[in-house]
Amino acid sequence: MVLVAPSLLSADFGCLADAVRKIEQGGGDWVHLDIMDGSFVPPISFGAQMVASLRKITRLPFDVHLMVNHPQTMVEDFAAAGADYLTIHYESTVHVHRVLSEIRKRGLKPGISIVPSTPVQLLTELLPVVDLVLVMSVDPGFGGQTLIEQTLEKVAYLSSRKRKNGLSYLIEVDGGINRETCRKVLQAGAEVLVAGSAVFNAVDPAREIGKLRCG
Ligand code: DX5
Ligand code: ZN
Repeated sequence: MVLVAPSLLSADFGCLADAVRKIEQGGGDWVHLDIMDGSFVPPISFGAQMVASLRKITRLPFDVHLMVNHPQTMVEDFAAAGADYLTIHYESTVHVHRVLSEIRKRGLKPGISIVPSTPVQLLTELLPVVDLVLVMSVDPGFGGQTLIEQTLEKVAYLSSRKRKNGLSYLIEVDGGINRETCRKVLQAGAEVLVAGSAVFNAVDPAREIGKLRCG
């Protein structure tokens, strides 16, 4: 079964509570929250305080994607804010394993993400200790970009490795997913689809969420 995680990045930041309600009413499974620090990626989005405020209005799982340098400095804040999944970038710290352990110690589900230029094989040692692998299908930082097809080979690799080794992480794909591209992403083995512009630029976000389950 595919899970759809609409990203608030393409919603109106003046009305994020409305956007969360739209996700809930539209049948979205998770809320994807993109945290950008103006350093790991050029833009700054929002932080733990915003996540804590939104936490009060929904029970949907919060899938927090940290596009930040020094992610270890933020684990405590996002745990307190009510994140469920907390995903860090492989490229953002040397001590990835330590940060993932810290996330789990605080009762959250740790996730690891890679940008399109990072080989998926670098994650080998980490696959047994994460609950989520987030394959970026665009370079992170902006919504509305075009999916880089070669990244789907990583999804297929993760899917076959998961099966062969009896691992339990979910495979999530983020970037350029819409009603046209979702089919090949799912065929490659994705289990969670993130979609920002496809959902929030649509006239009818609920209908769009339904379309992403195309399968
Ligand atoms: C991009 C973010 C994504 C973004 C995806 O850096 O990580 O979550 O919202 O946007 P779309 O779906 O428009 O490519
Ligand atoms: Zn994201």
